[in-house]
Amino acid sequence: MFSDKEISRFAKLETPFYYYDLALLQNTLSNCSAAAKVYNFHVHYAMKANFNPRVLEMIKATGFGADCVSGGEVKRAVEVGFNHQQIVFAGVGKSDREINDALDQQIFCFNVESIQELEVINELAGLKNTKAKVAIRINPNVDAHTHHNITTGLDENKFGINSWDLPQCAEVLKQSENLEFIGVHFHIGSQITSMDVFKNLCVRVNEFAAWFEERGFIVKVLNVGGGLGIDYHNPEQQIPDFEAYFKVYHDFLEVRSNQEVHFELGRALVGQCASLISKVLYVKNGKKKNFIVLDAGMTELMRPALYQAYHQIDHLSGSKSAEGVKYDVVGPICESTDCFGKEVALPETFRGDLIALRSAGAYGEVMASHYNLREGIVSVYSED
Ligand code: LLP
Repeated sequence: MFSDKEISRFAKLETPFYYYDLALLQNTLSNCSAAAKVYNFHVHYAMKANFNPRVLEMIKATGFGADCVSGGEVKRAVEVGFNHQQIVFAGVGKSDREINDALDQQIFCFNVESIQELEVINELAGLKNTKAKVAIRINPNVDAHTHHNITTGLDENKFGINSWDLPQCAEVLKQSENLEFIGVHFHIGSQITSMDVFKNLCVRVNEFAAWFEERGFIVKVLNVGGGLGIDYHNPEQQIPDFEAYFKVYHDFLEVRSNQEVHFELGRALVGQCASLISKVLYVKNGKKKNFIVLDAGMTELMRPALYQAYHQIDHLSGSKSAEGVKYDVVGPICESTDCFGKEVALPETFRGDLIALRSAGAYGEVMASHYNLREGIVSVYSED
């Protein structure tokens, strides 16, 4: 819910823009950090969810590390001042240049996704006379029970090394002088809302860690990735239950005394702290449908068009009358999928009314594009 003061501020600004509630972000970060500390768990922030500079600054100040999936993200993490020894680098397609740059930055670890990648990192590290720390990203074939487009840990997905390739992987690790194996890595998907999924993952992590130990490897790091979902249907339920989430791992992971448990959380940390604020350009009342055309579209918030994702639509101005009219809420882009919601019940709506698309802090601003030569999206902060 927005205060009257916030809404009158929005009315004076040019739309669309992302509005960040930095106090909420701070509470979420503090809550997560406290819950992780109970078990001495390490949290890396998955930068792909949002790399807005103000957001990154606050996350770094919380003491979290950075989980990166491109050379650009590693570079940004370094520039922002994340501790190099808390930067991890995953991704199925790391280029030679990205690997070389990350080696120069002496990051904590490469999460390696194929045997060929292991060989390339070994070779490039050798040329630099250095050793690269690597964790093996294993595809554990655990169903995340989430949208299939954001599932990553099944045999059919491109991510990680499959279990049947692990014997060869162990051989390559043993022969590679410029690699230091530090542990195992997993990430099975995003927007996971059932704790049972994480329990199932724990069982697989235990098996794979034991597999490496039986072959003489020291498994120092168990990196279980991210994936904790948020409640898109209830944006006021703002802070995810980090305590319950970490407790599952505490209860079901077999952690040896020399082992560290690492997480890579993105959405759960930033998802609820931002809304996309937009104005109604036109209202078209048809015979079959009523349309609200917003000044924000899939170029500002891509998730509904790409994954049929739900974002709650709040009507912020004017009449607080009962929700009487059903509208399809669409953007201005020349694509039929540029639609934020169908048959959404809202108060009667007029040109110029303000609309908020809620829970847009994760994979919102970062996935904006210039399609249709749209201008870049701007950000506004609660603290300013
Ligand atoms: N670690 C790795 C290796 C990842 O690939 C991801 C997300 C994360 C951690 C963080 O996952 P999270 O805690 O945020 O669920 N654009 C999609 C989501 C893609 C997620 C990609 N990987 C969306 O808008 O739903």
